[in-house]
Amino acid sequence: MRQRPRRNRKSASIRAFHRETTIEPGHFVYPLFVHDRAEKHAIESMPGCYRLGLEDLKREVEGALADGVGAVVLFPAIHDSLKSSDGKEAHNPEGLIPRCLRALSDQFPELVLCTDVALDPYSSDGHDGIVSEGRILNDETVEVLVKQALTQAEAGADIIAPSDMMDGRVGAIRDALDAAGHTEVSILSYTAKYASAFYGPFRDALQSAPKFGDKKTYQMDPANARETLREIQLDEAEGADILMVKPAGPYLDVIRLMREATALPVAAYQVSGEYAMLKAAAKNGWLDEPQVVLESLTAIRRAGADIIFTYYARQAARWLRY
Ligand code: PBG
Repeated sequence: MRQRPRRNRKSASIRAFHRETTIEPGHFVYPLFVHDRAEKHAIESMPGCYRLGLEDLKREVEGALADGVGAVVLFPAIHDSLKSSDGKEAHNPEGLIPRCLRALSDQFPELVLCTDVALDPYSSDGHDGIVSEGRILNDETVEVLVKQALTQAEAGADIIAPSDMMDGRVGAIRDALDAAGHTEVSILSYTAKYASAFYGPFRDALQSAPKFGDKKTYQMDPANARETLREIQLDEAEGADILMVKPAGPYLDVIRLMREATALPVAAYQVSGEYAMLKAAAKNGWLDEPQVVLESLTAIRRAGADIIFTYYARQAARWLRY
């Protein structure tokens, strides 16, 4: 045998020579849930994740930075009394997210602050857009999303991440940010966001599940890949800076497709259900948690993601140190 591939695997140092994919804490964005209360509230279906008050949020961010994770994305749990059909709390300058943004950008100037643009946490219908007679209105929703994005930029967001999947929202947000002088605020678009059942635990965390129906008229059909190419073209033309695929693990082929179709940075979101599955198996002693988590993150990078949104950001950063 002249060809013996095993020669290239014979020691840790040889394997390190030609390892094709690396992961570092600097690739991670750490999603955090916030609420307007002092105490922290554990999220049952996401062990290790909490809804945090401002003081705990600051402590968590401080710890993440110390572990090498330099970026967070904030998701709010909004009190029912502030939810409405037009989702107007989404653009209240004194709302929960703007207050968190001001506090974090004051205290941690080096932190990259990402924000979610969508109406579901603020919507009495639990949908990402405005609902009329059972339908999700596109253009009316985009007007509100633009106000939400402007409010976040005013309060100190570095990267605005629309996750709502309305048509035309990236361009509308870009124009409005530029007109208001926020030319340095980036847009990370959820370009290929699928109508996935893997978001279940996230909706528990925020109590934001749809009150009727599902999200299939705006989020993508899990059976489709080509549709991603169309969404990429639109987001590029509309001025997105970073494109995202979500979920990540079950959609590695879509990440690869996106990597090959764009020169923009590609992000992928290891979502709440992916986290819950890994945690559940680890808790039962069925899987070795550090190893499977680092393997799953490596696979997402290998598929083509530059950036990974993951609830494991801090834990993985620590495991990577050893
Ligand atoms: C809502 C939003 C969702 C997630 C991020 N932003 C849920 C949804 O679309 O219903 C899911 C994240 C996760 O499951 O971790 N705009």
